[in-house]
Amino acid sequence: MASITQDFSLLFLVLLIIFTSISSTTSTPILGVTIHHHPQSTTPEHIAAAITRRKIAAVRLIDPDPNLIRAFSYSSVSLLLSIPNTLVSSLASNRSNAAVWLYTHVVPFYPRANISVISVGSDVLSSSSDLADDILPAIRNVHVALHELGIRKISVSTTFSLIPLLTSAFPPSSAEFEEPVNDVVVRPLLEFLDEANSSFLVNIHPYDLYRLNYEIVLGFALFQESPYNFMDDSTTGVRYQNLFDTMIDAVLSAMAVAGHENIPLIITETGWPSSPGTNEENNANQVFAEMYLKGLTKHLKSGVGTPLKKDGVSEVYIYEMFDRERGQGNSSGLTRQWGIFYPNLTSKYELDLSGSSRISESKGLLTILSVCLMMAVLDLLV
Ligand SMILES: *[C@@H]1O[C@H](CO)[C@@H](O)[C@H](O)[C@H]1NC(C)=O
Ligand SMILES: *[C@@H]1O[C@H](CO)[C@@H](O)[C@H](O)[C@H]1NC(C)=O
Ligand SMILES: *[C@@H]1O[C@H](CO)[C@@H](O)[C@H](O)[C@H]1NC(C)=O
Ligand SMILES: *[C@@H]1O[C@H](CO)[C@@H](O)[C@H](O)[C@H]1NC(C)=O
Ligand SMILES: *[C@@H]1O[C@H](CO)[C@@H](O)[C@H](O)[C@H]1NC(C)=O
Repeated sequence: MASITQDFSLLFLVLLIIFTSISSTTSTPILGVTIHHHPQSTTPEHIAAAITRRKIAAVRLIDPDPNLIRAFSYSSVSLLLSIPNTLVSSLASNRSNAAVWLYTHVVPFYPRANISVISVGSDVLSSSSDLADDILPAIRNVHVALHELGIRKISVSTTFSLIPLLTSAFPPSSAEFEEPVNDVVVRPLLEFLDEANSSFLVNIHPYDLYRLNYEIVLGFALFQESPYNFMDDSTTGVRYQNLFDTMIDAVLSAMAVAGHENIPLIITETGWPSSPGTNEENNANQVFAEMYLKGLTKHLKSGVGTPLKKDGVSEVYIYEMFDRERGQGNSSGLTRQWGIFYPNLTSKYELDLSGSSRISESKGLLTILSVCLMMAVLDLLV
């Protein structure tokens, strides 16, 4: 009898080692979608049901409607809530204001709704440089207010946009955070994120960089594999196959220069516009949007990470779920649209946004294998 127990514990140990090694060698980021404007013709419950049905693991809500947060109760969908920029100053000046926001957007729903991250503002620096001094005090107030409510598992950060943040994005290894933003905001923020186990949040829009830089080939921005679609970083000797990785490695290089390359990176926005905001935007169309999103999801699900970070980024949110509705655009009649779903909740593109099939397949296979092994051992013992 003793030897049977021993055999079992040995087998258990072996299986445990296999499981752990499998789960630590895969590095597929959590794939999510941003909801910014949601159509009046659908309800929060229908939106949450569509997300769950498609097995989308995470949702980022900008200036969230509490009813939409409530709709994700009792689902495992991970929520990233973004507080509007207009509240940053008041959150910075008085912690009671932070508590008020939490009492309306977090306390009634948490933990039934899986709120994981709160971003204090979004691209605050581009919207108003006057707010630079308020970002960190506002983050600290939200963080402390959460702790006062006994909530320790929600991390707090803020969202940057790459273009005003970095000195340059190419070559990636030469990127540094722009001054004075670096001294005023980024460096103290990185220290806070490190202490609080939080993440660095950044929007990565290859479309914007492509439009600013005539040397970038369209296929390189759209994840198209071709002998001509590459860029070499001569300092590191790394060859980049797509602009998305190039931009992420630029952020990672800047974080490394600042001494904080181990803070997890969340890509809060990425996408490609499916219709132009001005007459000059020839490359904003559904064909290219679909190429970008298919290339992106295939790349992320491959789990290869980026040249500078083999385990990749931790989460990626596609921008965005719905088009803006009529009336929210320009007087010119043109509105840049990014939506990947129609208001009736059918998908515009054939995209698989579910959690990595690669991981679940290999784990499924492993489970079957383990059961077979277990039965074989049992057979031997009997
Ligand atoms: C909540 O989301 C996180 C990812 O941010 C995930 O790891 C966790 O399993 C989710 N929790 C529940 C209870 O589903
Ligand atoms: C912060 O706000 C609360 C509630 O509005 C108020 O009672 C308190 O006096 C304010 N504190 C400061 C320092 O302004
Ligand atoms: C951060 O994580 C470490 C290790 O998991 C833990 O010891 C520490 O208490 C955490 N810090 C905070 C502020 O949650
Ligand atoms: C409105 O037009 C301006 C200038 O043409 C452009 O920069 C902006 O992105 C447009 N806004 C929208 C919502 O499309
Ligand atoms: C949803 O809306 C799109 C665009 O208006 C339309 O092409 C599609 O047929 C609709 N699907 C359903 C199931 O109603």
